Amino acid sequence: MADVKLAIVYYSSTGTIHSMAQRLAEAAEKAGAEVRLRQVAELAPAEAIASNAAWSQHFDRTKNEPKAAADDVVWADAVLFGTPTRYGNVASQLKQFLDTLGPQWSQGQLANKAYAGFTASMTQHGGQESTLLALYNTIYHFGGVVVAPGYTDPLKFADGNPYGVSHVTGGSNDAPLGDAQHAALDHLARRIVSIGGKLR
Ligand SMILES: Cc1cc2nc3c(=O)[nH]c(=O)nc-3n(C[C@H](O)[C@H](O)[C@H](O)COP(=O)(O)O)c2cc1C
Repeated sequence: MADVKLAIVYYSSTGTIHSMAQRLAEAAEKAGAEVRLRQVAELAPAEAIASNAAWSQHFDRTKNEPKAAADDVVWADAVLFGTPTRYGNVASQLKQFLDTLGPQWSQGQLANKAYAGFTASMTQHGGQESTLLALYNTIYHFGGVVVAPGYTDPLKFADGNPYGVSHVTGGSNDAPLGDAQHAALDHLARRIVSIGGKLR
């Protein structure tokens, strides 16, 4: 839908959520949306980042990309939040960003928008659903409208996650996104742009 404003706000340590966010941005732009693609600030200590080569490389590659601000959520008609699974939960970096939105929440500036989430984990049953459900607790408090993909298209039976979109990175944490994930990301982008436009 033309002129819908979509904010994609995410955290990524080793690049998976970053790739998913980029794919969502491309699909949403194709659907006519104006997109702000924003990463939240890294909060981990330098020694933790340095202990993991993939994390260090991703941090260096993306450290100058635009950072999320409260205004990005206020501005948007629709918002996609992305986070790696951390013990079946939302990464603290994204949670910290959400926890800075109190002033906007108290003024009702986060309500009545379309929201959905995307995540990744190393293992198939490692907590993707609990991560998305935990993320959505915050959306309920915003007064947001959770736009779950459900099984609204046959392609959702391939990626298999009605709560959002997710990817299993595997034991080496580097399994690339496949056709099923790309299709599910494109579908989520089209759906949130469409419903975000109707809500606006
Ligand atoms: C502290 C920590 C906790 C994690 N917890 C889980 C988990 O509960 N289940 C799981 O399958 N993977 C877990 N992982 C793996 C990450 O979810 C996986 O590396 C991440 O989704 C990759 O996303 P990224 O490349 O965008 O950082 C954990 C990783 C870390 C560092």
